[in-house]
Amino acid sequence: GFKVCADMVKAAVEATGVTVPVALHLDHGSYEDCFKAIEAGFTSIMYDGSHEETFQLNLDRTKELVELAHSKGISIEAEVGGIGGTEDGVTSNGELADPNECKQIAELGVDFLACGIGNIHGVYPEDWAGLSFERLSEIKAEVGDLPLVLHGGSGIPEDQIKKAISMGVSKINVNTDLQLVFAAATRKYVEAGKDLEGKGFDPRKLLKPGRDAIVEKTKALMEEFGSVNQA
Ligand code: 13P
Repeated sequence: GFKVCADMVKAAVEATGVTVPVALHLDHGSYEDCFKAIEAGFTSIMYDGSHEETFQLNLDRTKELVELAHSKGISIEAEVGGIGGTEDGVTSNGELADPNECKQIAELGVDFLACGIGNIHGVYPEDWAGLSFERLSEIKAEVGDLPLVLHGGSGIPEDQIKKAISMGVSKINVNTDLQLVFAAATRKYVEAGKDLEGKGFDPRKLLKPGRDAIVEKTKALMEEFGSVNQA
């Protein structure tokens, strides 16, 4: 799977002649997945060791993978403090990463660090407490210029997003928001009976509104995050 994915992305980049740098990044990779992705030609990996049995194991494995990734000239993201929410059927609350653990992982030379600051994957519950800027500033004080990653980017109020960026967050992961706009646009197409008109059942037609909706949402998020023309 990793090899097919890497080959498809490379072919798409060549075929479309994009002019901005494109990274093929493994998100939340297990220790084993990271080796497979590197072997397959990914240009960036995330080793999510936050679920390992001990912090020491996360530290040891991150160290090993930093050395391997950098020997191949690719970037590596690490994680401290599990990002809560429901992902792959596992639900947990938004943790606050330990600043001292962040420091130890940062010192290994990772390229970016995902740290829990109350953020969670998926749709935020009504009673969500919001991001902990106190914890973010404590982490920032320990890791210096290391770019921080905010996972669970869907549905965080814009003012919190902007404040997090101003305090050192350089990468924001968004998935659920894009899935939601895809589903809504596809539902609209089917409910309007368009799949029953002519060749409207052709996947290239059936899936187009959802795809277009993802493109529009991505553009809007890039404006919000201030990432337009930054590549
Ligand atoms: P959301 O699905 O909550 O946007 O989170 C995405 C993410 O963090 C992927 O790593």
